[in-house]
Amino acid sequence: MEKIGLGLIGFGTVGTGVVKVLEENRAVIRERLGVELVIKRIACRDRTKKRAVEVDPLILTTSAEEVIRDPDVSIVVELVGGTESAREFVLMAIREGKHVVTANKALLSEYGREVFGLATQMGVDVGFEASVGGGIPVIRALKEGLCANRIEGITGIINGTANYILTRMTEEGGRFEDVLKEAQRKGYAEADPTYDIEGIDTAHKLAILVNIAFGTWIDLADIYTEGISHITELDVEFARELGYRIKLLAIAKCEDDRVSARVHPTMIPTGHPLSTVGGVYNAVHIYGNAVGSVMLYGMGAGMMPTASAVVSDIMDIARNITRGVSARVPPLGYIQNGMKQLEIRPMETIEVPYYLRFSAIDRPGVLSRISGVFGAHNISIASVIQKGRDIGGAVPLVIITHHAREKELRKALQEIEKLDVVTAKPVYIRIEESSGEDT
Ligand code: NDP
Ligand code: HSE
Repeated sequence: MEKIGLGLIGFGTVGTGVVKVLEENRAVIRERLGVELVIKRIACRDRTKKRAVEVDPLILTTSAEEVIRDPDVSIVVELVGGTESAREFVLMAIREGKHVVTANKALLSEYGREVFGLATQMGVDVGFEASVGGGIPVIRALKEGLCANRIEGITGIINGTANYILTRMTEEGGRFEDVLKEAQRKGYAEADPTYDIEGIDTAHKLAILVNIAFGTWIDLADIYTEGISHITELDVEFARELGYRIKLLAIAKCEDDRVSARVHPTMIPTGHPLSTVGGVYNAVHIYGNAVGSVMLYGMGAGMMPTASAVVSDIMDIARNITRGVSARVPPLGYIQNGMKQLEIRPMETIEVPYYLRFSAIDRPGVLSRISGVFGAHNISIASVIQKGRDIGGAVPLVIITHHAREKELRKALQEIEKLDVVTAKPVYIRIEESSGEDT
């Protein structure tokens, strides 16, 4: 049976998962491919470290370059993470004429244009299914299954760590810091967990989805990004009382050739299809003009689900190799000249309902002063709830608005913050009422 040589750079959570999947599913992979996938070399930093799988120590090296230049390696799998060394390794592999598989969303969201441009020039494949949604085949769904559609919108929960933290805080009321530590222990979090909790990892993934869904390039700076580290137990509790869940959502829309892309904590009604997506699970809702709503759901992080996606890319490329073709499906699903540079809609122009929480002095007339500011900015209030009583002291005052323009909302909050009856910076969380059909 024909053999195809693989070289892994990175032997951590996902790297060991890849070895495990290739070993455990050897028979079915062979039956599906008709070729044998053989790991020829693995690069890591510390060859003596105990790993979750055992491999022949002779294939281990600390030199990524050795892996890339090995003539028996046809597919280089980059699982190092970060953007510096990883970029160097990926570009070197492509220049060497090797096909590449990577799970690195940070790299592709920042240097995708360079990586895909070079790959197209060199006629090699780049697989990156694991870069968004862990084990969920969302990249292939957009590039292939839904390629007949004009994609109008995407709404997703695409960071397992953040979703794990918010779910635990909602269901068990745990402290943010403790739940984060647990997610790190389970191998879900990025090397720097700031990426997970500040929405940066979600923005990286959303950038990739925007590229594929709308056929446009987008800079990370054009994705409004807000994380979950400021979400308090109090807001989680109020959300629950009001019939909402707080989720870190990635939202991208393309209307009249204008793209909006944003990542922020969002209150969604308990009936919303994304509200039941708990723990490390991810889900992506896609709206295509022909197909309508499509929802994909699965494990968004972790050793085996992520390895499942990485190995699927390896198998896809192996199929091309055996048939003597490459880049049958372009990296982003568009021919090179098919990619556009669409206009980006500024965050200030979005219009959504808002959940607002003020710490306000409990005395007559306070509400009318706050609502007066909203009136002056043309913001309409849907409901007001005062939690508790503390005459003369400060109490939480929760206001839900009708649809309001972000720019006006921010201006109103700046004014309200200065009122002498308001004792702390107001909290605001955007609401998405739609159950997804119109994204
Ligand atoms: P880990 O930190 O667990 O593993 C990184 C690996 O890279 C380690 O084995 C490390 O070696 C090796 N390494 C680092 N620098 C070098 C270098 N210069 N040369 C050779 N090897 C090097 O990361 P993960 O496995 O969690 O993540 C890998 C990639 O997959 C990242 O891009 C991540 O964003 C992505 N990803 C991760 C998911 C997850 O659930 N963990 C899910 C989806 C994507 P050593 O072990 O010796 O230190
Ligand atoms: N840190 C990421 C997450 C890994 O928690 O979703 C998967 O990309």
